Amino acid sequence: MKEASGNTMVKAVLGIDIGGTGIKGAPVNVATGELLAERVRLDTPQPATPAAVGATVRQLVTSFGWQGPVGCTFPAIVHNGVTLSAANVDKSWIEAPAERILAEAVGLPLKLLNDADAAGLAEVMFGAAKGRNGKVLMLTLGTGIGSALIVDGNLISNTEFGHLVFPKDTIAEKYCSAKVKDDLGLKYKQYAERLNGYLKHLQLLLSPDLVIIGGGISKKHEKFIPELVGLRFPVVPAALKNDAGIVGAAIEAAKLYGGVMVPYVAPLPPSQD
Ligand code: BGC
Repeated sequence: MKEASGNTMVKAVLGIDIGGTGIKGAPVNVATGELLAERVRLDTPQPATPAAVGATVRQLVTSFGWQGPVGCTFPAIVHNGVTLSAANVDKSWIEAPAERILAEAVGLPLKLLNDADAAGLAEVMFGAAKGRNGKVLMLTLGTGIGSALIVDGNLISNTEFGHLVFPKDTIAEKYCSAKVKDDLGLKYKQYAERLNGYLKHLQLLLSPDLVIIGGGISKKHEKFIPELVGLRFPVVPAALKNDAGIVGAAIEAAKLYGGVMVPYVAPLPPSQD
């Protein structure tokens, strides 16, 4: 953690982002969205069963000596604290009381939400869609495709647009996720064509005012966003990069549980992966 400046205290929540390969976390200043310490990343245990993931999340919480509320993301539908799908995680999460399992694993108040929903909320509060009204659609392009729809600042949770049947006989995340680009060895131009088709389909269904592209591939946004044509809305890269999930989860937990006061540290630059 960087040196505290003066005696200023800020309200913080520990944000955690659970993914298929890594579990990352850091304390977040919930007033500004800034990380208050370097992120810690642990490998997602394989198989990623509820007990194993719970133990890794506990290890992460302990590594910060954290005693306060925790906001946590999950890469699946999270409805009233229950995980209802498991496209890219162990199937034993389906219908598991995930929020309770993780809260008990860490022994702290914990709020659980979908990973893309968290990222979208963070971008609306502190990032690429700050202060924007209208329909903002966030898409996270990674192993799968996550989506968050935010209307006038309000999240419509669990939209799962990565599972839309597109183009036909398949679903969007099996056609134009970042993983598909890697698996098929697509060039950015070829990848942009696929993404363009998907975005046109979403345009037809939703008429968004703004689309934000997140996920690791958004670091290379200049290689594919300029190739997109025929869209009535701007497409911009996520501003918070891969920290958006951590930040959004912390914000949501703060709404329910407040936070703990910790010494202020100078803003850290966004993490680079
Ligand atoms: C899941 C979503 C998740 C997305 C990104 C999809 O396969 O169904 O819930 O947001 O992957 O992790």
